[in-house]
Amino acid sequence: MASSESSGLPPRSPSSASCCPRPTGWTFGGYLPEPTLLVVLLLFFFASWSLLLRCPTPRLTALNRSSFPLSILAVNGQRSPAETTAEEEISLSSSSSSSSSSSSSSSSSSSSSSSSSSSSSSSSSSAAAAAAAAVVCNRSRYPSEAELSDDQLTILVPGFSIERIAVLRNNTRRMSSYPFVRAIYVLWQNMDIPVSRFDEPNERFDSDGAPIRVLGQRSNSLNNRFLPRTFIETSVVVIMDDDMLADKSSMEFALKVWRENSQRIVGYFPRAHLYHPENGSWTYSLKELRQKGERKKYSMVLTKTMLLRTEYLFDYTCHMPSGVRKMIDETMNCEDIAMNFMVANYSNTAPLAVVGRLKDAGVRWTKDQRTYRVGLSLRADHFDSRSRCLNELAKLWGGMPLRYTYSKAVPA
Ligand SMILES: *[C@@H]1O[C@H](CO)[C@@H](O)[C@H](O)[C@H]1NC(C)=O
Ligand SMILES: *[C@@H]1O[C@H](CO)[C@@H](O)[C@H](O)[C@H]1NC(C)=O
Ligand SMILES: *[C@@H]1O[C@H](CO)[C@@H](O)[C@H](O)[C@H]1NC(C)=O
Ligand SMILES: *[C@@H]1O[C@H](CO)[C@@H](O)[C@H](O)[C@H]1NC(C)=O
Ligand SMILES: *[C@@H]1O[C@H](CO)[C@@H](O)[C@H](O)[C@H]1NC(C)=O
Repeated sequence: MASSESSGLPPRSPSSASCCPRPTGWTFGGYLPEPTLLVVLLLFFFASWSLLLRCPTPRLTALNRSSFPLSILAVNGQRSPAETTAEEEISLSSSSSSSSSSSSSSSSSSSSSSSSSSSSSSSSSSAAAAAAAAVVCNRSRYPSEAELSDDQLTILVPGFSIERIAVLRNNTRRMSSYPFVRAIYVLWQNMDIPVSRFDEPNERFDSDGAPIRVLGQRSNSLNNRFLPRTFIETSVVVIMDDDMLADKSSMEFALKVWRENSQRIVGYFPRAHLYHPENGSWTYSLKELRQKGERKKYSMVLTKTMLLRTEYLFDYTCHMPSGVRKMIDETMNCEDIAMNFMVANYSNTAPLAVVGRLKDAGVRWTKDQRTYRVGLSLRADHFDSRSRCLNELAKLWGGMPLRYTYSKAVPA
């Protein structure tokens, strides 16, 4: 692996000036023993709290909604064509390629035969995909990092299950009241239910603060949640599953931690990979990993709730090794593993897990199930397929970029 200095990423934008000096002197990713970490954190919080008390305008200020651009204020089904056309095109083209290959779902090894059989129809669709990618991957369509604000965050939630829409509506409404939430976008990916449904009075997503928009997607691709979006105005996005609710202090803490670690993915659900020297392959670990004599370590965080640089959405869609997005559409899994690979490779560090209060506000689902993939999440081979992804992605990356860390950020 080359060093993180030559990652090819644009330089990080200088943080905007604020009245409160940013506390420095604490970093994670080292190998501090847990008690030391706690003491450091306690000190940090006392320090930042006393700074906040003296500060007339805290960094996390309440949003003045009249300052929102009109395009963002247009709530629910109203989509401005300029914003969504290209995203729809690229999700459309990726869905048509995935549907042709998923029909032959006998085994993963059948992908080569299915791609050859559909080669006649794929030439026109691949031309369309290339045209869509040229638009979506035109960096100047999106604000530069310097134009984005880092004192608020944007929440992106894919929606699919109509049974869970009441929970999603309640959760988004709650989170819209957090002053550090700039906007919430529900990416509606259920092709059977038109997004216009959410314009009806008793189906609307009501807000208690930040605007909530429901954006119809043209496919159920897992890559949709990582598409770059022209309307995102913050330098950090939160990717969430539709059953997740983070309480205000947990999310505010995660945002603070991210601002001190903006190259890393910050999340609540750590997982690990494990190497098997006897057969030279990797497997996926459902939990953090504890190897003999070691403390628990992890190398990935799940998309159930993750914070990451908005710029990484563009990198995911436009700079990943070719074949990754396609693999994800074919397996209907592993987009989060791919994002962890990409960021680990760029940043040369592990993600950072925060300890916080999150609930699934609805039905309890077992770990790792993403239930908007109705019918797929229940597959018994979920973990085998996650392990297969690890090995497949390591091939595409030409090595294993994931790094372990033993540290977590713990609120005082
Ligand atoms: C991994 O990172 C290095 C250095 O930043 C970069 O040159 C390389 O292209 C990246 N690999 C992939 C597969 O993205
Ligand atoms: C919000 O912004 C508008 C226009 O910039 C201004 O007139 C108004 O006073 C602001 N409201 C608050 C509560 O700051
Ligand atoms: C990229 O997008 C910008 C802004 O929308 C546009 O002016 C430019 O022509 C586009 N470039 C290409 C190569 O399409
Ligand atoms: C949503 O919130 C309302 C009002 O607080 C409550 O009555 C309702 O039971 C909630 N629905 C779900 C599914 O949690
Ligand atoms: C490699 O070995 C591990 C542990 O014995 C096993 O779980 C895994 O399935 C093996 N992988 C392959 C590709 O054989």
